[in-house]
Amino acid sequence: MRITVYLTGGVACYKAVELVRGLEKVGHEIRIVMTKNAEKFVGPSTLASLTKYPVLDDLWTKENQASVPHVHLARWTELALIVPATADFVAKIANGIADDAATTTLLATKAPKLIVPAMNDQMWNNPATQRNLSTIEGDGVKVMEPAVGMLAEGYAAKGRMPEPEEILTWTNEQIKQTKRLNGKKIIVTAGGTLEAIDPVRFIGNRSSGKMGIAVAEAAANSGAQVTLIYANITVPLPKKPLIKPVHVESTEDMLQVVEKYFTACDALIMVAAVADWRVKKAADHKIKKQADQNTLKLSLVKTPDILKTVAKNKKSGQLVMGFAAETDELLQNAEKKLREKNADYIVANNVNQNVFGNDQNQVTILSRKTAPKKLKRMSKSAVADHLIDIIAKNLLNK
Ligand code: C5P
Repeated sequence: MRITVYLTGGVACYKAVELVRGLEKVGHEIRIVMTKNAEKFVGPSTLASLTKYPVLDDLWTKENQASVPHVHLARWTELALIVPATADFVAKIANGIADDAATTTLLATKAPKLIVPAMNDQMWNNPATQRNLSTIEGDGVKVMEPAVGMLAEGYAAKGRMPEPEEILTWTNEQIKQTKRLNGKKIIVTAGGTLEAIDPVRFIGNRSSGKMGIAVAEAAANSGAQVTLIYANITVPLPKKPLIKPVHVESTEDMLQVVEKYFTACDALIMVAAVADWRVKKAADHKIKKQADQNTLKLSLVKTPDILKTVAKNKKSGQLVMGFAAETDELLQNAEKKLREKNADYIVANNVNQNVFGNDQNQVTILSRKTAPKKLKRMSKSAVADHLIDIIAKNLLNK
């Protein structure tokens, strides 16, 4: 795996050197990014000679003048490991600050992020640090808790960085998680379907596609082969070899494509906001308004319910997850959908809470087997990780 290790300024930097050797020994390809403070604890030449590659620590050197090394490295990276992470670095990434090579590269990478904080116990326990840690966890960063032990200050407390072997075991465990859906096929729908009124106008909805795309990315980050069936979206499509995007426009189109891929899939996650109604007969020319006309009547007919149609025929072992965007009586409505649509899970969200186009979401997950689980408000990518975790546990236990 292509891993970028970020070192920030703490005495535990010397342990990171050992860790880099351990990661190389098991076959990972390593690049190093260091902050200037990290270089006060270990020299970049130690890490450059270990990895046989220059350390990125400055965006403004002569060699870097005509290139964008942080973007290049951010794209190359399959896993970002920050070890040790200082309280200052955690605070910066919690707030999206990018003021040096390390913070800029990390902000530019889409790779999964693992972080190993190490600091004095009072800094660790400071409410600001705890707030920042909970923010980055909400953004999907995995945090390894510091150990309790002798600190550099000469007393024992929580804040000590775990030993390199422990970090290596934890990292390998996290990497395993990134492959746990290898060979599984998952369909994710995203965006909002469009129903034509005439060649120019349509009936649509406010879905941006962000939640569906986050779910597709989380599934691919776990190794699944993802077919992303997307209707109208307002955000860029993900570029990952494991994600195959298929564009559709209307609900009927989406049904056809979902049916085509459903038979061979392990799980279907219907995140798309699907139009419930379409115009009975779309005009084949632009509808002109007349001078004396004050109203326009459109006759609407119901669209097929994709989830209900395909879930009716699901085979044993296939999982189906739907979404329920509600403005009222969230749980009762979601519960009803769980039964009526023959879904294994319904993810209920209250769309009164500024969900469309937002980067955050607050959902409650309903399942046939367990009580509803309400998640706190978090980024859509962290919600997606939770959903894929549920799908993975279920698929791997069958
Ligand atoms: O019934 P409602 O539209 O609230 O159900 C939401 C869930 O059903 C979502 O997962 C959505 O993708 C799916 N759906 C569907 N076909 C429709 C309407 C909704 O698959 N025609």
